[in-house]
Amino acid sequence: MAATIVLGAQWGDEGKGRVVDYFAEKADFVVRFQGGNNAGHTIVVGDQRLALSLIPSGIHYPNCTPVIASGTVIDPAVLIAEMDMVAEKGLDPSRVRLSSNAHLIMPYHRKLDAAIERYLGKNLIGTTKKGIGPAYTDKFSRFGIRVQDLFDPKIFREKVDAALVDKNKILPRVYNTLPMDAGEITDEYLGLAERLRPHVTDTSLLIHRAVKEGKEVLFEGAQGTLLDVDHGTYPFVTSSNPTAGGAVIGAGIGPKAIDEVVGVAKAYISRVGTGPFPTELNDETGDTMIELGGEYGTVTGRRRRCGWLDLVALRYAARVNGLTRLFITKMDILSASDTIAVATGYRAGDDRYDEFPSQQSVLYHCEPEYVELDGWGEDITGVRRYEDLPKEARAYIEFIEEAVEVPVGWVSVGPERSQLVEIR
Ligand code: GDP
Ligand code: IMO
Ligand code: MG
Repeated sequence: MAATIVLGAQWGDEGKGRVVDYFAEKADFVVRFQGGNNAGHTIVVGDQRLALSLIPSGIHYPNCTPVIASGTVIDPAVLIAEMDMVAEKGLDPSRVRLSSNAHLIMPYHRKLDAAIERYLGKNLIGTTKKGIGPAYTDKFSRFGIRVQDLFDPKIFREKVDAALVDKNKILPRVYNTLPMDAGEITDEYLGLAERLRPHVTDTSLLIHRAVKEGKEVLFEGAQGTLLDVDHGTYPFVTSSNPTAGGAVIGAGIGPKAIDEVVGVAKAYISRVGTGPFPTELNDETGDTMIELGGEYGTVTGRRRRCGWLDLVALRYAARVNGLTRLFITKMDILSASDTIAVATGYRAGDDRYDEFPSQQSVLYHCEPEYVELDGWGEDITGVRRYEDLPKEARAYIEFIEEAVEVPVGWVSVGPERSQLVEIR
C-alpha cells in the first residue's frame, strides 16, 4: 500500500477517521486533500476519543507526518485551537504541515454561509455554516486569500480590502447583515500568522518526494462521494471534490502515483443536511440505527438521517472513484436487526434503475427495491477473525462484494481501534 486514497463512499461520516487511524500505524504521511472544518473525524483508542476536523488522522503516530494540502480551506483560528487541543492530549502537533497554497476561510465566508442558508429558507442545504462554500467560491472566482498571503502583511491587507469591496455591498444589501471591518479582520489574521509559520511549506513537493522514495502515503478524504460538487447529489453537496480525482488535484501529485483507492462505507447509510436519500428510514428502524450508531454529527451535533445500505449508490461510488477495496464500518450496529434490507435497484414510476440516476428530479422520486437478508442477531463486537463472524454476517459482506464488484478488505465491529476484522 504505497500511496493509498481513503475516501467516503456515501454521504460522509462513514468512519474515515478510524480507518485512516488504523492504516496510519504503517504510514509515513497522512494527507488531507480537500474540505475544511466541516469535517469531523472520530478516533477511539482505548477509552480516549479524539475528534479532528482539520488535522489528518495520523496524528497519533510519531512516525507519521500529518499534511494539510493545497486543496483544503483553512480557518486559521480553528486549526490553531485544534493543534492546542491535541497537544493537551499529549500528542505532538509540531509535525503538522500546511500548504502555503491552501485557501483561508475568512470571517465574511462564515457570515455569508449562515446568511445564504437563512435566505434559502426551506430550500436550504443544511451546511455546517463554517464558511466552506463561500471560501471555495472566492477561490474559483480568484478573490481567495491563501495561507502564504499571511506572511506578506501588505499584500494581505490589500487582498482583504479588495475582497470587502463587494462583500460589504452584498452583506447589507442582499443579506441584511452588518458590513465587516477590514482592519479588524487583518489584525486578527496577521496576529495568527506566526503560530502557523513553522508549519507552512510546499506540501506538493513534500508529497512528491515521499512517493518517489517509496514512502507509505495515505490520502484522507473528508465528506463523501455523494457530497462531491461534481459527482454528488448537487446542489445538496459540499463545495469540493471528496472523490479520488480530488486527492490528486488537492495534493498536487500525478494520478499514476496512486496504488490503491479504499472506499469506506457504513453497513447502513447516513446523511446530514437536506437532499434526496432513497433508502431513508423515517421509522423505528431508522431511529434504532441513529441511537445505537450514535448518529449525531461531530461538528454540528445534528441528528443524522439513517437508512438501509444503498448498493446502487455504492456501485456508483466504486465507479467514480475506481475503488480497489471496500472497508465496511459499523457492522455491529446491524446486530439488532432480525432481517437486513439492502437496496439493489430503484423504481421511479414505470422505470427501473440499477445505475445511480444522473437526473436529480428522478432521484427524488426513486423508491428502493430491497433484497432482504437474514440478520445475525448476536453481539459481534469481540470478533477479530473473519471466520468467527456469524455466517449471516459473512453472507452480508459477500452480497456487497458481488453487487459492487469490489472486494471488501476489512469490516469494523466497534469504534475502538482494535475492533476490526481484516479479510484480505
Ligand atoms: P468520518 O467523518 O467518516 O471520520 O466519521 P465520523 O467520525 O464522523 O463518524 C463515525 C462514527 O462512528 C464515529 O463516532 C466513530 O467512532 C464511530 N465508528 C466508526 N466505526 C465504528 C464501528 O465499527 N462501530 C461503531 N459502533 N462505531 C463506529
Ligand atoms: P466528514 O468528513 C457529513 C454536509 C453538510 C451539508 C453539505 C454542505 O465528517 O464525513 P458544507 O458545510 O460542507 O458546505 O455543507 O455537506 N457535510 C457533511 N456531512 N460529513 C461531513 O464530513 C460533512 N461535511 C459537510 O451537512 O449537507
Ligand atoms: Mg464525520
